[in-house]
Amino acid sequence: MTPDLAFVEYLYTKYRYEIQGMHAIQKQRISQLDFKPHFDDMESELLYMLVREFAPSFSIEFSPYFGYSTTWILAALRKNNNGLLKSFDIVDFSYPKVKASGLADRWEFVLGDVTQNYPIFEYADIDFVFIDSDHTREFANRYCREFLAPLHEQAIKSCKIIPVMTHDIYSWETKEVPTEEGEEVLNFLKERDIPYFTASCFYENFPKLKEIRGKLGITSSVHAVEGNPSIMYFLGVR
Ligand SMILES: C[S@@+](CC[C@H](N)C(=O)[O-])C[C@H]1O[C@@H](n2cnc3c(N)ncnc32)[C@H](O)[C@@H]1O
Repeated sequence: MTPDLAFVEYLYTKYRYEIQGMHAIQKQRISQLDFKPHFDDMESELLYMLVREFAPSFSIEFSPYFGYSTTWILAALRKNNNGLLKSFDIVDFSYPKVKASGLADRWEFVLGDVTQNYPIFEYADIDFVFIDSDHTREFANRYCREFLAPLHEQAIKSCKIIPVMTHDIYSWETKEVPTEEGEEVLNFLKERDIPYFTASCFYENFPKLKEIRGKLGITSSVHAVEGNPSIMYFLGVR
């Protein structure tokens, strides 16, 4: 399975009505609960659709901040009627917001440094990962070596695909050049010959996805920022 434009078009075609509904719901959540979103529309939609499509039993998120990305994952898990999300952050701003959103029944929040958990994660249990945390090169290098590498090895042993989305691979400052975190993650993927997909506004998929979404009736926006600096990729078997 390859995370390419054809796969993403398939997802949009399948989940377009849910995405339209999520736009209205998330707009309301942002205005009522002040989530201070650090996550743009297309990447939010991709995150939601990946969780819907792969129906993970156990997902990991680092890190929620005020919990905006968390609500997209939890909304998809609720629709799946299956799965748990464990989110790690050194601040607990997300806790009251996610609770107030009414989505916390499939959620466990852990207050603390996620790096402490790399040696003790049950890698065989993890089915889905979202990473949007400390954006330094050092942090990224460490999560590639100490978290993604063992997760990839375990996924191959278990013959499974683990979808991962990582934020801030691109940025408004560096544009089409990857950030320092981006360089670390893209090197990790290149060494293992793992393809990735981005909806970043600095790359050609962005206008193509806008057109695909428009034709499917996804014309509104949840919030105005359109950078979409994430990438998505699949660890484990192809
Ligand atoms: C960019 S914000 C996440 C934004 C969030 N995903 C959203 O949708 O709004 C980055 C978060 O990483 C957290 N963080 C930084 N270093 C961390 C660490 N070592 N362990 C856990 N969380 C960390 C910060 O506290 C912050 O809440």
